[in-house]
Amino acid sequence: MTEQVPFTDVYVDDTIVERVVETVESRRYVKGPRVEELEAQFAETCGVDHAVGVSSGTAALYLTMKAAGIGPGDDVLVPAHTFFATVSPVVELGANPVFVDVDPQTYTMSGTDLAEKAEDAESPEAVVPVHLYGQPAAMDAIHGVSDAHDLTVIEDSCQAHGATYRGDPTGSLGDAGCFSFYPSKNMTVAGDGGILVTDDADLARTARELRNHGRDGEGNHVRVGLNHRMNETSAAAGIEQLSHLADWNAERAAAAERYNERLDDVDAVELPMQMDDATHVYHLYVVQVPDRDGLRTHLDAKGIQTGVHYDPPVHQTPAMRDALDEIPSLPVTEELSKRIVSLPMHPRITDEEIDRVASEIRGYHE
Ligand SMILES: Cc1ncc(COP(=O)(O)O)c(C=O)c1O
Repeated sequence: MTEQVPFTDVYVDDTIVERVVETVESRRYVKGPRVEELEAQFAETCGVDHAVGVSSGTAALYLTMKAAGIGPGDDVLVPAHTFFATVSPVVELGANPVFVDVDPQTYTMSGTDLAEKAEDAESPEAVVPVHLYGQPAAMDAIHGVSDAHDLTVIEDSCQAHGATYRGDPTGSLGDAGCFSFYPSKNMTVAGDGGILVTDDADLARTARELRNHGRDGEGNHVRVGLNHRMNETSAAAGIEQLSHLADWNAERAAAAERYNERLDDVDAVELPMQMDDATHVYHLYVVQVPDRDGLRTHLDAKGIQTGVHYDPPVHQTPAMRDALDEIPSLPVTEELSKRIVSLPMHPRITDEEIDRVASEIRGYHE
């Protein structure tokens, strides 16, 4: 039987299991010390003052936008080359997503297109750069536009735990940053979870209230909010996972390096571009090829799992066709969506697995 090369892998060890079991036995499941501990540690990792643990990355984005005052009539500049959840909170809040194309090399938000779209927007309020695949967006260009138009900068860092831009961690590069702990991410919480981080004390307090039925520290319902809390069992696992994050990111980077070396001379394959002034934490290792679907079928037959992140791009999903008055044209995003394939990537992928994937890709293109 062909040996499988899994696309990703979720890490569990005895310590994680013990911490979760201890928490179950403690009978303290919500609003407890473990969420507070994870928040303190995560804020420190990001070099910011506040972190608010929540039920998912989507909740982190939604609560951050709501706490930042985004609502009906506001234009929010977003990429379409991203996961749906970058954009769905904008629509849920009654605001308008204004789609910005991406840079063809880095795949993150294009500063040039952002400048044009911000200029044309009626009521630009916020921009959501996505640190896609683990690489920070080019924040200097984004800050140039956000300063000119007084935009709130909300980082979607759901794929970039521990990445840095000019030495500063993602999450500290805008007004607030949002992270996902979905099981495939660079760290997880043994289930769904997310966290938002910020230096803005008011934004953090508002988000904290919004995640807990709009309650303030005294338990009064001071605003209307739903329940987006993180569980204590999740935080217990997250604290242990966070302690491994830097090592795992280094292992991902080493795996990416090996893919680069093995695929460098295969002309049909365009390798990921790594910016000089950033660290890339390779949540995903994504290449471009001319015949993406054919290659995926070939790899699948050899037991190699792959993914596509993302096709269709968000602006072309049926949901957005319903939500938008007009579907914009985003040439770089649209072309990329047909050519990209994500190869197996996780900290424990072996050299042999990488070599096998690379040799099958090489074979397919010979
Ligand atoms: C770029 C991006 N934004 C938002 C999310 C949403 O996170 P979650 O799945 O935890 O809600 C994810 C992950 O799934 C993501 O990759």
